[in-house]
Amino acid sequence: MSHADLNQDFRHWMTSTQQQCEEALAFFLPAGDVIPAKLHEAMRYAALDGGKRVRPLLVFAAGRLFDAPAEVLARAACALEMIHAYSLVHDDMPCMDDDALRRGKPTVHVKYDEATALLVGDALQAQAFLVLSEGEGDPAARLAMLRLLAQAAGSTGMCGGQAIDLASVGLALTIEQLEQMHRLKTGALLRASVLLGAMSGKTLDDDEIAALDAYASAIGLAFQVVDDVLDATADSATLGKTAGKDAADNKPTYVSLLGLSASQELAQKLCKDAHAALLPFGEKAHMLRSLADLIVQRKA
Ligand code: IPE
Ligand code: IPE
Ligand code: MG
Ligand code: MG
Ligand code: MG
Repeated sequence: MSHADLNQDFRHWMTSTQQQCEEALAFFLPAGDVIPAKLHEAMRYAALDGGKRVRPLLVFAAGRLFDAPAEVLARAACALEMIHAYSLVHDDMPCMDDDALRRGKPTVHVKYDEATALLVGDALQAQAFLVLSEGEGDPAARLAMLRLLAQAAGSTGMCGGQAIDLASVGLALTIEQLEQMHRLKTGALLRASVLLGAMSGKTLDDDEIAALDAYASAIGLAFQVVDDVLDATADSATLGKTAGKDAADNKPTYVSLLGLSASQELAQKLCKDAHAALLPFGEKAHMLRSLADLIVQRKA
């Protein structure tokens, strides 16, 4: 297949996977008229109709490596996206980044109120574990997936990264400290997406885990490096969230520490590392390869 065909193939796969994810999320979230209706409506507002769906795309792309069943993948993808949506709702609250715009819409605490935003996050997190716990298949494999998601979301994963982020305002972090913060706050859920997708297909051996870890580690860090670059270079309309917020809030970022061009070069290097890590998987890793490119080349 030529390069152009592969690209078109990827774009087609991406659109249909995003659509599939939207439908699955709409199905796995409580309906908006279930009591308490305001909470359920706000959960759907936070999770549906928006976002790039990068984590679900990673789940489905990794699932292709081992021909994972679609239903197991849909549950893992929705669980990841619910945890991610919850993290964004809380990240935007006045006690954290205090943002009014997310995915081109008013943030949940602005559209509803702060207490609702807090509960939306709490309830989305619980719903994620519920969705992942149900369904067909080997209970031991499902337990391993639940454990992995809990670790990725918790205090040594995403929440831990968010805690470091908040504690770092106005500080001059070393590059090692900044990297650790990025690996936790963003990398952890991206790594979980890749591993849960692959685990949906089979029990992974050590070599497979090592290769997927190397890929996930590279794209996980690259994703937040690019997020920092876009915060400094793109506009709010393109991003669907407030641009220039990191500098305004005095957050340490790759851009503030390394500058723009070194940050962009680092993202490119990480993309190459990601490609190299996928070599053992051959042609089946095509979508994962293209996702690494997308993560580094994205403009929003
Ligand atoms: C934004 O994530 C927050 C970070 C972890 C950098 P995304 O850029 O994936 O946000 P959506 O889901 O597309 O809105
Ligand atoms: C947030 O990082 C990461 C999580 C939500 C876990 P940012 O604060 O940089 O994300 P944006 O830029 O608001 O999307
Ligand atoms: Mg933040
Ligand atoms: Mg933020
Ligand atoms: Mg950001």
